[in-house]
Amino acid sequence: MVKRYMEESFKTIIEPFRIKSVEPLKRTSLSERKVILKEARLNLFLIKSENVLIDLLTDSGTNAMSAEQWAGIMRGDESYAGSPSFLRFEKAAQDITGHSVVIPTHQGRASERIVIQSLLKPGQYVLSNTLFDTTRANVEHEQCKVIDLPCEEAKDTQAQFPFKGNMNLALFEEKLKELKSQVGLVVMTLTNNSGGGQPADPENVGAVARLCKAYKIPFMIDGCRFAENAYLVKKRDSRYANKTAKQIALDLFQLADVITISAKKDGVANIGGIICTKNEEWAQGFRNNLILTEGFPTYGGLAGRDLEAIAIGMYEALDEDYLQYRIRCIEYMCEGLRKLSVPIVEPAGGHAIYVDARKFLAHIEPAQLPGQALAVALYEEGGIRSCEIGTSMFGKIVNGKIEPARQDLVRLAIPRRVYTQSHFDYVIEVFSRIVERKKEMKGMKFTYRPEALPHFTSHFDWI
Ligand code: F0G
Repeated sequence: MVKRYMEESFKTIIEPFRIKSVEPLKRTSLSERKVILKEARLNLFLIKSENVLIDLLTDSGTNAMSAEQWAGIMRGDESYAGSPSFLRFEKAAQDITGHSVVIPTHQGRASERIVIQSLLKPGQYVLSNTLFDTTRANVEHEQCKVIDLPCEEAKDTQAQFPFKGNMNLALFEEKLKELKSQVGLVVMTLTNNSGGGQPADPENVGAVARLCKAYKIPFMIDGCRFAENAYLVKKRDSRYANKTAKQIALDLFQLADVITISAKKDGVANIGGIICTKNEEWAQGFRNNLILTEGFPTYGGLAGRDLEAIAIGMYEALDEDYLQYRIRCIEYMCEGLRKLSVPIVEPAGGHAIYVDARKFLAHIEPAQLPGQALAVALYEEGGIRSCEIGTSMFGKIVNGKIEPARQDLVRLAIPRRVYTQSHFDYVIEVFSRIVERKKEMKGMKFTYRPEALPHFTSHFDWI
């Protein structure tokens, strides 16, 4: 029998692929980057991607596809209705989730919109381990309120708890007792992106599902990073060591009444979304809504070729050699940053490294945007693009003054199969330079700030 690479005890975990097609990276000089930053008003969303050396803005849709996926792209059948590409997509999603109804959408937030519009009534509540921004925006758009109930351990960025994506079960039950049928939907985000890419354990998800059943409330899994969550369960809870990531993912999906997925993450594709359920009655409503904006139910806003890429990509995301390498990339970066005493959200999560910029740049007040200052410094120093998740994104203006967000984090999201170890070594080296000069770093201020989603288009200046 051929022994799998990962079962052998080599210390070096290699990228489990070789590279057939490459994209050149353009280098810029420090003086060029200073000009680029000035022109972009110190907002990294306003920089042309060709001027970025290492782009860690997001892991969403930035995946490198495999030779098999590209072969699928060529096989894609673009029939309007009943395409064989849809049938392959449907079969893969049924196999991986165990749900009979599979509806394609153009991306995760379209899946969320359709489910939320179909299941929620104005004035209802949604309880969650923490909703992602787009899910939250869709809930609020339906005049409903969100209550995030992450577990206590998640509040301390330094705590080494293995399942910081868990729901706080005691508070969850309390809220169910208090609000009863006013709760229209319960959502577990797996992994919890907003909380540091942290996984939830199957017992916790199971307890949430049982309480939902008892209170007759629909239970949704936002399964964007289902494979990473499953693999972290396997690694962090010895009871799951002998199960495959695919089996763990299936067991988790079985607990949900409805699933939304963005195929731009663990679909290892560049576009796409999925809705899965076993409830035929809901499915009818979802499909009617889908047709209004996404398209006919066998393509849902995607090309047949995209459906092929996702059908293949979902399996590739569950390959354990790939998952071992994927999770190791995040750990490797975390180890490098810890050695430099750069505070990060602990433990290492599934798709990104989250630097605690408020702790790292403790001399910069939260109202002076330490996260934005660090993100800009990473670009200036080494052409690295990251994403501030803090006061620039979530801060509020109250009586003309900035009210800081709960945390000031900088996320370094790792695109799947795109960068190699030397790229990560380079990022760590750039951090080492910033560590040396961090005391001289200054805070920032807004020079223009729109009301809605300010981080995308705001302008900044140094203080
Ligand atoms: N749910 C989670 C947990 C997400 O992280 C995202 C997207 C979505 C839903 C929405 O999916 O982008 O396909 O519409 N997260 C990206 C990110 C944008 O950078 O974390 P989408």
